[in-house]
Amino acid sequence: MNPSPHPHFAIAIDGPAASGKSTLARHLAQRLGLVMVNSGAMYRAITWKTLQQGIDPLDSPAIIALLDRLDIQCGSDGTMSTLTIDGIDPGDELRSEAVNANVSAVSAIPEVRKVLIDLQRGYLTHSSIVMEGRDIGSVVFPDTPYKIYVDAAEHVRAARRGNDGEVDSIAQRDAADSQRKTAPLIVADGATILDNSDHTIESGVEAAIEILRSQGLPV
Ligand code: DC
Repeated sequence: MNPSPHPHFAIAIDGPAASGKSTLARHLAQRLGLVMVNSGAMYRAITWKTLQQGIDPLDSPAIIALLDRLDIQCGSDGTMSTLTIDGIDPGDELRSEAVNANVSAVSAIPEVRKVLIDLQRGYLTHSSIVMEGRDIGSVVFPDTPYKIYVDAAEHVRAARRGNDGEVDSIAQRDAADSQRKTAPLIVADGATILDNSDHTIESGVEAAIEILRSQGLPV
């Protein structure tokens, strides 16, 4: 038998925009003592850099060339993922209207996904993680038994994003993320759906723990 290269595991949390998956993933990671990794921030960072460089977000060859020149450093502060791109942490810029409007186009480029998926998998060499995104259970960690698909009614998601004060066409972004050719948003094989429409943070975490227990996590 091949010994496992490391003792770590991943909990995959996928779902559409503003379904509450980041909040859930953050609190779940806290509760279980794991590192929370926000994979969307990585796609947002490449989008931010693309716009900053004046590159058209639809110009795939230019973005692929940019990727070769970038220094992307992914790490963690012990509880949350951290990221710098050419030495800079873009911070709140990652959630700007311009990034929201263009991140789906940039994240549909297969070469972008390949670079980021390698970085995402790299987290497991250091720690067990809760990673949230769109393709975590289907593509990044298809073999993990711990998979949750977080959904919420569209009006709840729209209200949530409005309350965050963000300008974000989530319906458009969801359509693009679900219809793209490479790694679209899907309910991964083996994932359990958690309807987050009416949960508080605490009851959502409890529901997630119940699902993970049923998937074999000893919690
Ligand atoms: O989770 P988020 O809304 O911050 O993600 C921003 C965008 O990044 C999302 O619209 C699609 C893309 N994304 C992706 O393609 N795959 C992931 N695993 C995470 C995010």
